[in-house]
Amino acid sequence: MSTQKGEYKRITTKTILAMKEKGEKIAMLTAYDFSTARLLDDAGVDIILVGDSVANVVQGLETTIPVTLDEMIYHSKIVRRAVKRAMLVADMPFMSYQVDSKEAVRNAGRILKESGAEAVKMEGGKRIVPLIEQLVDIGIPVMGHLGLTPQSIYKFGTYEVRAKETKEAKKLIEDAKLLEKAGVFAIVLEKIPEELAAKVTASVQCVTIGIGAGSHCDGQVLVTNDMLGMNELFHPRFVRQYANLSEVMRRAFQSYISEVKAKKFPNKNESY
Ligand code: KIV
Repeated sequence: MSTQKGEYKRITTKTILAMKEKGEKIAMLTAYDFSTARLLDDAGVDIILVGDSVANVVQGLETTIPVTLDEMIYHSKIVRRAVKRAMLVADMPFMSYQVDSKEAVRNAGRILKESGAEAVKMEGGKRIVPLIEQLVDIGIPVMGHLGLTPQSIYKFGTYEVRAKETKEAKKLIEDAKLLEKAGVFAIVLEKIPEELAAKVTASVQCVTIGIGAGSHCDGQVLVTNDMLGMNELFHPRFVRQYANLSEVMRRAFQSYISEVKAKKFPNKNESY
């Protein structure tokens, strides 16, 4: 079964859960700007995530730690203007939900009210269960995120595959069940063994979205800039490159520069 663009007018949490039930895979990609979001929405992607990966691919930062709530709202607002069909999810950045639940609820509310995102994503297991319950009760849909959680990079010390050992794998399954019980509609599973992701997917009714987690998840997500090949220095094994935009862009920039220098641009038709 394939998702035809016209099949769903507007993707909601209900549509996403129905897709799992029908065995229809969910396609999710990230966006941080209007032009990319417009193309993604037009292509028929199901979920657009304004990820805190904005740190790495837009802001040129090494980790997602410095991203602020205001920056997430700024990018989500821009993306919102382009998205008509896909469900729009925004990341809660580091330290916007860790201090206390009052502040976290206010921050999640700001994301929905000020940007127009329809759900928030947050990293973590058991520790954030009471917060998820509160948000879902208020009416804020939550997407969880387990496995490699980049906001904890200084604790992990590496971007290696997580939960290869039995103890961590068991904890991850428990966390997924707790997140589901708390009311998440979906969980991102990042960089964990394929077999473990399959087990999690079979043990929860909510949707699993994998990134570097194999083919058995209910859906897949990639960072759009990575799958477009915009950074030739970054190609981990789980990223399939669907284009080589760095090459295309570099060639275009070089052609423009040489034509300007050679006085070949603009020509008569391009002038008034
Ligand atoms: O920030 C992000 O883009 C993400 C995805 C990789 C899932 O969390």
